[in-house]
Amino acid sequence: MVSDKTAQNTIRSGLAGVVVADSSISYVDGNAGILEYRGYDIRDLAAYSHFEEVAFLLWNGHLPTLQELQEMKAQSRSCRSMPVEIVVALRNLPANANPMAVMRSAVSLLAHYDPESEDNTPIAHQHKACRLLAQISEVVAAFARIRQGKDPIEPRADLDHAANFLWMLTGEEPQPLAAKALDQYLLLLAEHEFNASTFAARVTASTGADLHSAITSALGTLKGPLHGAAVQEAMVQFIEIGSVENVEPWFRKARAEGRRIMGLGHRVYKVRDPRAAPLMANVEKMVEATGERRWYDIARKLELTAMQDPYFQERNLSANVDFYSAPLLYSLGIPVDTFTCMFAMSRIVGWTAHVYEQQANNRLIRPLANYVGEHQRPYIPIEQRQ
Ligand code: CMC
Repeated sequence: MVSDKTAQNTIRSGLAGVVVADSSISYVDGNAGILEYRGYDIRDLAAYSHFEEVAFLLWNGHLPTLQELQEMKAQSRSCRSMPVEIVVALRNLPANANPMAVMRSAVSLLAHYDPESEDNTPIAHQHKACRLLAQISEVVAAFARIRQGKDPIEPRADLDHAANFLWMLTGEEPQPLAAKALDQYLLLLAEHEFNASTFAARVTASTGADLHSAITSALGTLKGPLHGAAVQEAMVQFIEIGSVENVEPWFRKARAEGRRIMGLGHRVYKVRDPRAAPLMANVEKMVEATGERRWYDIARKLELTAMQDPYFQERNLSANVDFYSAPLLYSLGIPVDTFTCMFAMSRIVGWTAHVYEQQANNRLIRPLANYVGEHQRPYIPIEQRQ
């Protein structure tokens, strides 16, 4: 007799509301719209901090002293070097390869050239996290150029992370406003508790596997349109709308067709995502600087239109982090199909912090299934099967 586990186990579809582990990295209050990194409100960090300081905070649990920040910056700049074998591999990939798939492959390949890839000690973890932070941004910039027939550009040690990325992408001196806007974007997306990709990284880490394996799992998970690719889909949708005048007709049609509006809704936030306001403010600054306001205006009108619609009100669907990330990244000249890579360039900080936390207090993550198939079926030899 096979026992029926259904009665003992309640399924929470999509693990919604299930608490999986203790964590001291970030805190999300979805009803109040609060996000904290290590106890610091994301609004304060966006206003006063910068990405490299926040990376230190997420990795170490406290804000750095001046000396610690200087040491961290020196260390992160010394990590800026991608093995030449990876550049060769990128050159051999099809030019039309999906950039997120490229990054997933590249991180997996990077493990072969990392001297500590199979070393899971805390110090090796720290070195690898530093290297991956730098190398991921180099992979994004290098592939964006290689597929256009251009050579990758060497990183510069005199620039902060965001400015260095813009330099490697364009070969032009980064504009301070653009570098600041990108820095804020990276800061705002660096960490978000047990989202799907972070959970994937922790599941992999819980088996005792190495950091590169955990990050490869995370990248594969971030790639989906319900998670990291929503930012690309949001931009595609704004481009499809095309003009402010078309927002309302487009919205009515999309609703009639039962389409999801990308960049709206969140599993945890039942109010506007706290990252939306600082991202929107950065789009506004870029609009002022460039004079190009079409994408901001379309996004804003779409948000306001959706917020007045009872369907979105009843389901508490508001702008999430991807909604204003899309016009922001577009204004920075990032190719639309590379937006999710930008997300990964930021979230690598949170992922590596979580892998460390998982390994520091590990227990294999291995949930159960509620089996709904048949039991004890008689085996029929192949020649007797119909
Ligand atoms: N547009 C229209 N309807 C929506 C949307 C949307 N964007 N999001 C959810 N709904 C509806 C959904 O159809 C369902 O309706 P009903 O109750 O009638 O069946 C209800 O709202 C609940 O949706 P759900 O899919 O059960 O909710 P979830 O918590 O599983 O999904 C979500 C959350 C983010 C996947 C979803 O809101 C969504 O698909 N949003 C669009 C994609 C997106 O922007 N993703 C980025 C998420 S935030 C950053 C990140 O994680 O990367």
